[in-house]
Amino acid sequence: MTKTLLIIMGMLLAVHATNFFNEFDITWGGNRAKILNSGEVLTLSLDSSSGSGFQSKNMYMFGRIGMQLKLVPGNSAGTVTSYYLKSDGSTWDEIDFEFLGNVTGEPYVVHTNVYTQGKGDREQQFYLWFDPTKDFHTYSVLWNPQTVM
Ligand SMILES: *[C@@H]1O[C@H](CO)[C@@H](O)[C@H](O)[C@H]1NC(C)=O
Repeated sequence: MTKTLLIIMGMLLAVHATNFFNEFDITWGGNRAKILNSGEVLTLSLDSSSGSGFQSKNMYMFGRIGMQLKLVPGNSAGTVTSYYLKSDGSTWDEIDFEFLGNVTGEPYVVHTNVYTQGKGDREQQFYLWFDPTKDFHTYSVLWNPQTVM
């Protein structure tokens, strides 16, 4: 993984780092992306016209990122809330989380994938054991040269 790019199209996301002002740039979504508390917290939100995203200034060979995420409640059929980490270039590395909405009362499906050197085909799907629309939950990815978990 070289450069970390995080795109979110969910309701609201909050991430903590040493200082978001120094280490990240908001790349799209205008005021839907905000850096708060003197750079301690970055929040992203979605409305009917756009999501929002940010990108790290530096590149990372390894790391752990944890996101607090609360999904669209009720009838969310047809919505896909996603975040991903991605490097630049034509042979990029990428780690994806997608939350596929469902009709009221039916569960979200979580869809993950990992790309190395531009090649994916590592999809996995599963149901969560809690309601992801009721509260914020932390979804984490750890990556290093040996493993992604
Ligand atoms: C919606 O929920 C049903 C199970 O109740 C499941 O079979 C289906 O895959 C779900 N659809 C999506 C898009 O997650």
